[in-house]
Amino acid sequence: MDSEEGKSEIDRLSAEIERHNRLYYVEGESDISDRDYDEMFRDLELLEERFPEHATSNSPTKRVGGAPIEGFEQRLHEVPMLSIDDVFSEEELSDFFARLRKNLGKEEIPVTIEPKIDGVAVALHYRNGELDYAITRGDGTVGDVITENVKTIRSVPLRLPDGAPAWIEVRGEIFMSTKRFAIMNEQRQEQGLPAFKNPRNATAGALKLLDSREVARRPLDFIAHGLGGYEGDPINSVNEFHVVLKSNGIPVNHPVWEAIDYEGAVKAIREMDQVREELSYGTDGAVVKVNSIADQILLGATARAPRWAAAYKYAPEQVETVLRDITIQVGRTGSMTPVAELDPVLVSGTTVKRATLHNQDEIDRKDVRIGDTVIIEKAGEIIPAVVKVILEKRPAESHPYSLFDSIDGECPSCTSPIVKPEGFVAWKCQNPGCPAKAANQVKQFVSRKALDIDGVGSIVAEKLVEREMVVSPLDLFNLTESQLAPMNLGTKDEPRTLGQKNAVRIVGALEKARNAPLHRWLFGMGISQVGESAARELARLHRNFEEIANSEILQELKTFQTGQRKEDNEKLAQYEIASEVGPTVASSVLNFFALPAGQTFLQQLAELNLDPVSDNYAPVRVVADAEGAEAIAGKTFVITGTLSAPRGDFKERILALGGKVAGSVSGKTDYILAGDNAGSKLAKAESLGVEVLSEEAFESLAASASPEKASEPGELFDL
Ligand code: IVH
Repeated sequence: MDSEEGKSEIDRLSAEIERHNRLYYVEGESDISDRDYDEMFRDLELLEERFPEHATSNSPTKRVGGAPIEGFEQRLHEVPMLSIDDVFSEEELSDFFARLRKNLGKEEIPVTIEPKIDGVAVALHYRNGELDYAITRGDGTVGDVITENVKTIRSVPLRLPDGAPAWIEVRGEIFMSTKRFAIMNEQRQEQGLPAFKNPRNATAGALKLLDSREVARRPLDFIAHGLGGYEGDPINSVNEFHVVLKSNGIPVNHPVWEAIDYEGAVKAIREMDQVREELSYGTDGAVVKVNSIADQILLGATARAPRWAAAYKYAPEQVETVLRDITIQVGRTGSMTPVAELDPVLVSGTTVKRATLHNQDEIDRKDVRIGDTVIIEKAGEIIPAVVKVILEKRPAESHPYSLFDSIDGECPSCTSPIVKPEGFVAWKCQNPGCPAKAANQVKQFVSRKALDIDGVGSIVAEKLVEREMVVSPLDLFNLTESQLAPMNLGTKDEPRTLGQKNAVRIVGALEKARNAPLHRWLFGMGISQVGESAARELARLHRNFEEIANSEILQELKTFQTGQRKEDNEKLAQYEIASEVGPTVASSVLNFFALPAGQTFLQQLAELNLDPVSDNYAPVRVVADAEGAEAIAGKTFVITGTLSAPRGDFKERILALGGKVAGSVSGKTDYILAGDNAGSKLAKAESLGVEVLSEEAFESLAASASPEKASEPGELFDL
C-alpha cells in the first residue's frame, strides 16, 4: 500500500468509525458487533502508525486523549454566551408571555419547550465540517479552550458529514448520565477514591483536568441546545435548527414540546414534570424558546440573557427517607447544631446523607425523632433540609429527641459542660480551648471574605489544630515554611505532605494578610453575631481594635431596649448606624473583648506587631460636604453592564463609602451605575425614574464622597 492508498483507507475507516459512533452514541443503536468495531479501530491505528503524515488531529483514534497540557488557553467568544432568565412560577411564566406579546405585537407566539440539562455549557466550533475548537462558557465573553478534553466525548462528532455548513457554533451541555455517574462513583469508592457529590460537579471536574487521557475515562456525554455563530443555509426556527443538528449527527435534546401561547406552554411544562425523572440527565427546569429566529432577533437580549427564552424552574424535589441518627456539630462559636444522619437518597441529582436540623426548637416544632421517616428537600446548591415527619410511619417505640440528653450535657469535642445562654436557641460549648471551636475559628479566619489565606483549607486548618501548631487563629502568623512543608495531611499509613510550594504560598498569603483592612479581620475573628456587613459597619465607626474594645458607641447601643431607635438617641443619631449593628451585635462585640479570649487576642496582636486599620472609617457624615458624602452613604446602588473594572470592585467601593448595593432595581434604588451594554435593569431603572450614573459620573460622586473629604473625624467622634 502506498501513501496515497494509505490516505484513502484512513479516510474511509475514519468516516466509517465515526458513522458507527454516531449510530451508537447519538442514536442509541448499532449495526456492527463490538468485535468488528474494535477490529476496524485497530486497523485505523495501524495505518496511522504506518502513514503518520495522514493521521489527523480529528481522527477517531484521538478520542482516547493525548499528553497532558500545561493549562488552558483562553479565547474570546465570537458571539457572547448568555444565560437564561429564570421563572419560578406559572404566574411569572405568564408575565414572560405577556412581554412577548407586547414586544412582538401579536397574540400567538410559537414556542418550543425542552428540558433544561443540568450540565456544563460548552460551545463547539465546526469549520468546514471539522471540529475546530471547543470552549467553555467562562464569563460569557472569554472561555477556556478545552478541545482535547471534549474530543474524548464519543457523542461529540469530530467531523460532520458532507454538506456541513461552512461554520457552525453548536452550543450545548456536557453532562454525565445519572446512571453512569452512579456506576463511576461506586467504582471510585471501591478503589478508595473520594466519591463525587453530583453529576454536575463530576462533569465540571473532569473538564478541568489537564490530562485528556484521564478525561477519556470519565463517562461524559453531550447534548446540543443552541446556535452561536453560523455561516450556511438559512435556519429560520428552533425546529429547523434541530433538523440541521440531526442531519449532522449532533445529539439533539428531546423530548421537545411545541405551543403557541402560555396555556400550551404550561401544559407542556406539566407533562415534562411527569417524565423528567426518566431522562438520562438531571433537570430542574424547562426551557421555553420563541421558535422563530426572526422573532428572536426582534426581541433581542439584555446584557445577561436573551428576551426570547425563559427557564421555568420546578419546585424543589422532595424525597422520603429514614432518619437513622442525630449527630451534633460544634461550630466556631461553640454552637451545637444537630444534624440528621439519613439513609442516602438521590435528591435533585445529589446523594444526600445528612441534613441540618438547625436547633432543638426546630426539632421540637417538627417533632423529629430518631427512626422517623422524613421528607427532605433540596433546591440547587442549598443545604438539604428536613421538611416534615411522616407520622404514620413512626416506629412505635420512638421518643422525643433531646439534644442535651443525647450528649449527656457535654461538648462532644472537649467534654466540657454545655450551656444555653438566655435568649439563644443553640446550646453552646463555652470552653475557649475547645478543639472543635479552634479548627472552625481558623477556617473562618482564613476564608475568602476574611483574611483570604490561600493554601489553608479545611484539611490544613484541622491538621494545624490537631497538631497543636495553632490554638487560636493568630498563631498562624508564627508559622514558618520549615514547620509547614513537612506537615502530614494524610494518615500514618498513607502520608501526604503539604510540601514546600504550598508552605511558601501560605506564608506569603499570611504576610499579605497583615495589611488587610479592619473589617476583614473583624469578620474573620468569628465573633458571635458579626457577619460581613456588621463587620464593615463596625469598621466604619472605629479606626482599629482598640477603639472597638473601648467603644462608647457600642456601650451606648448595648443598653438599648427593644423598640428604642438609634435615630432618636442624642449620642448616636449622628452616626447613622446601619441596621446590621444593633444592641445584640454591640453586646456580643464588647463581651468578646472583655473575656480572656478577647484580651489574649489584643495582646497577641501587639506581640505580633499587628494593628489592622479601617479602610472605610467615616463615623459621621459631614454636613459641610453633604452633597458628596450623602450622595453615596446610605444610598442604594444597582450595578449593571460592563464597566472598566469588575463589578465587585465598584461594589467594594460603594460599601466602603457607606452605600448599599442591591441585585435588582426597585422603588428603593437610588442610583443605577450603568456600564456598556446595560440591559433590562437599566430599562427598569429608567422606567422607575432612578438616577442613572455613567462610570464617569460615579467617579466624580465617589471623589466627593471619599472619607478624606470628611472633616477631621476626631472632633466629631467625641461622644
Ligand atoms: S438554550 C442563551 N436550552 O442553561 C440561552 N440552554 O442557565 C440559550 N441549558 O446558558 C440556551 N439546558 O448553558 C438552552 N435545553 C436548554 C438548556 C440550556 C441547559 C443551559 C445553557 C444556558 C444555561 C442557563
